[in-house]
Amino acid sequence: MRPRDRLTSCLIATCGFCVTTMAMGAADMPARPWMNMSLSPDQRAVLVLKAMTQDEKFRLIRSDFGEANAGRPMPVGALNSAGYVPAISRLGLPALQESDAGLGVARPDLNGKGATALPSGLATAASFDPQLAYAGGAMIGSEARRRGFNVLLAGGVDLERDPRNGRNFEYAGEDPLLAGTIVGHAVQGVQSQQIIATVKHYALNALETGRNTLSAQIDPAAARESDLLAFEIAIGIGHPGAVMCAYNRVNTVYACENDWLLNQVLKHDWAYPGFVMSDWGAVHSAGKAALAGLDQESAGESFDQTVYFDKPLHAAVTSGEVPQARIDDMVRRILRSMFAVGVIDHPSKPAPLDYVADGAVAQRVAEAGAVLLRNEHDLLPLSPKLASIAVIGGHADLGVLSGGGSSAVTPPDGNASNELPPPHAWPGPRIYQPSPPLAAISRRVHGKAQFNDGRDIAAAVQLAARSDVAVVFVEQWSAESFDRPDMTLPGNQDALVAAVAKVNPRTIVVLENNGPLRMPWLEQVGAVLEAWYPGARGGEAIARLLFGEVAPAGRLPMTWPRNEAQLPRPRIPGAGLASIGLPPQGQPAESVNYNIEGADVGYRWFQRRGIEPLFAFGYGLTYTHFAYGRLQAHWKDGQLVVDFDVSNRGKRAGIDVPQLYVTLPGAGQTRRLAGWNRVALKADETQHVEIIADSRILADYHPAQHTWLRPAGRYQLQLGHSSSSFEGGATIELSAGGCALSTCRNSP
Ligand code: BGC
Repeated sequence: MRPRDRLTSCLIATCGFCVTTMAMGAADMPARPWMNMSLSPDQRAVLVLKAMTQDEKFRLIRSDFGEANAGRPMPVGALNSAGYVPAISRLGLPALQESDAGLGVARPDLNGKGATALPSGLATAASFDPQLAYAGGAMIGSEARRRGFNVLLAGGVDLERDPRNGRNFEYAGEDPLLAGTIVGHAVQGVQSQQIIATVKHYALNALETGRNTLSAQIDPAAARESDLLAFEIAIGIGHPGAVMCAYNRVNTVYACENDWLLNQVLKHDWAYPGFVMSDWGAVHSAGKAALAGLDQESAGESFDQTVYFDKPLHAAVTSGEVPQARIDDMVRRILRSMFAVGVIDHPSKPAPLDYVADGAVAQRVAEAGAVLLRNEHDLLPLSPKLASIAVIGGHADLGVLSGGGSSAVTPPDGNASNELPPPHAWPGPRIYQPSPPLAAISRRVHGKAQFNDGRDIAAAVQLAARSDVAVVFVEQWSAESFDRPDMTLPGNQDALVAAVAKVNPRTIVVLENNGPLRMPWLEQVGAVLEAWYPGARGGEAIARLLFGEVAPAGRLPMTWPRNEAQLPRPRIPGAGLASIGLPPQGQPAESVNYNIEGADVGYRWFQRRGIEPLFAFGYGLTYTHFAYGRLQAHWKDGQLVVDFDVSNRGKRAGIDVPQLYVTLPGAGQTRRLAGWNRVALKADETQHVEIIADSRILADYHPAQHTWLRPAGRYQLQLGHSSSSFEGGATIELSAGGCALSTCRNSP
């Protein structure tokens, strides 16, 4: 644009800015002063804002669906993905190209080429390794960048309140400190590639059943100490450019028009400077949503009743319902994130993906996050000298299962098979990452590895009976938009495992699933490895773990209940009885009562009720064992610090995750994970390590004072192998302490 044109449009739109430019003289002015990188993102955003027309502003606060859909063609310039905002070339603003999701770049490119799938978010969480979470985030961020995207809808941190929730695999488990820390580091990794990450689904989107209307009922203080704390920690660590508000209602108000969630907690209390985008189909109003703090409507033309942030919002501004200043704030927040994360200074450029290097990152996560749940008589690791091994079920000849829905990543050369069980349409199809465990096992064993698909139990039993070892792969497909109806393995798989174990006590079960399941055959099998959905190189990772080339290092990021009766809600409100669980699921419920457990999510609920789960949060075996000693606790520089010895008492190297649990003074308190360490030890090695308790975990949220307060009294500290197995402890007397949000931000 020529300077004169710029000044003219400027005069009409934003006079304050033009006074300055005219005083300098048009010839002296840089064409785009916001491109001055020495200015802060806030200053740069304000400069652009002042140069924008109202139409340009309104174009930035809504995205279009980035794929062809229901007769609409793909928008020109879009990349076949979830969201697209056209470039504003006049101002040098690139298009916003938004892609799902947290486990990788989900949709194939226009030539049908896919991307690298990370394992489930639960696997990353199970690693208890923030650096690995960062590496995974950086890997998917770099693939997004090479595919031309600059926004990744990645950063799922809703807490696991129910093992049947169809999206648990996208999240990071039940504990706010663990989930927030892991997701915060993954977000950092994504954004290290100058890609905006999107922490989601804010908030309490803990069930899929009836998700578009369901109201999550919860006492605000309990929410602050649980789900909102996970978001607060993730946002504090990761500084995501965007936060996605959820489908559901919270205390009866839709999340995307919830003033308490968006304006008060997120933007005021946490001082969040980025923008709030809606989930796809989560907007129900123009003025109400805008005034409550929603900054960008996503794909309204395809998913909402109308495009609220177009004509209806224009009308709300004209009528005075929504002040112009609010529109400007929405735009400024989006621009600020674009500058802060670097999408304007370092535009994404298409480049080939490095599937080998990226697959290696996915494999590391799968190996670090797999949890060994059972290993009787050291059945694992297997010897390569085995003469015969039966590999049964789970499509182990084909690949490894992925979760479905918007986060499902199409593999580089497409799905591993077209002949798979339904559903074939969204949230399907079932995707198998082409990393077959059968091939990876065959490569390692000197003897014969033979496969049976498990459909004919008698044939599988025959094979198992004549083999040295049987490895049974079981699978539970799960996806967004529905919950599992129960905790039972689908189909004939329970019967298959029981029958195989009966003829071969050296039976190993590998789980590819969304999380906790009933395992009626548990006592009959020799070993169980929880592999989650293990990602692009899952088969290789599983084989390496089974043969001890790498030791299992994962610890459960959630409690594993014995059955549904142990849950706060034995039945999911509104869930139907259909065995596969796909919609329609019966009459959706109006609300779900999270006050039953409140802030006592997961292991805290089990402690409060005095019930024993099957496996505790934080539990996981490996091929050696560890002992703790010489524990000391002290208060140092305003922090609670615990140090102790960790010793490897076995004959193999391994990784331990000692966990610090704290019980606050006062009646009725349950223990909380306050920190952990992750330590690699050679056989017989001892290391002295330290854990610093996160100060937020030592405090309670007090709504009346609007702050976190650390109560005075005796704090009980327990050093755990899990949330229910302790070796060493101490008590420490602490004085009362205020913990303003700003001073509450340490992280392990
Ligand atoms: C999901 C979001 C996703 C969006 C865009 C929605 O169905 O809930 O997580 O980012 O679709 O695909």
